[in-house]
Amino acid sequence: MSTKRTAIFLSLIIMLFSLGSYAQTKHKSSTHISLATSIANGKNIYIQNCASCHQTDGGGAGNMNPPLIKTTYVLGNKTTLIKIILNGFSDNVEINGQTYQNTMASHDFLKDQEIADVLTYVRNSFTNKASAVTASQVKTVRANNKPAK
Ligand code: HEC
Repeated sequence: MSTKRTAIFLSLIIMLFSLGSYAQTKHKSSTHISLATSIANGKNIYIQNCASCHQTDGGGAGNMNPPLIKTTYVLGNKTTLIKIILNGFSDNVEINGQTYQNTMASHDFLKDQEIADVLTYVRNSFTNKASAVTASQVKTVRANNKPAK
């Protein structure tokens, strides 16, 4: 093979490779939201919908609003956690040894993906470390959440 033909051959190979990886990236992003993206989107949703009560650092506000730092609700069962967002929370239960005077309203106006993102953000911020919540998990809980009529 001449040098010129080798060069053409090589650039063709490189082109094919880059096309291949481009297609792969495209495919990935359309079917799966990465953890980093979910956390970044979740942060915006948190600032808009949660921070007024739970504060930007998740520390809560005195005996009004509980913290979201390593509580059993934040780190625990995902179904229970998703239901708190869908239904609100006013059980006056003890959260890490303290009760809180405020009540939390329902946030069921948030989309499945938005609830997944905000909970994934909370579970991976404020020193929390727990697995992501997905839109399909929220969808399932929402579908089974309707009160019996
Ligand atoms: C109006 C203030 C308010 C807003 C806004 C609010 N919360 Fe709450 N949240 C509360 C209060 C008060 C409680 C405790 C209620 C109780 O014990 O009766 C609570 C409880 C919780 C709990 C369970 C207890 C814990 O500390 O682990 C989680 C988790 C939670 N909220 C997450 C969120 C998220 C996420 C958002 C935003 C989508 C949000 N909250 C918005 C006031 C609020």
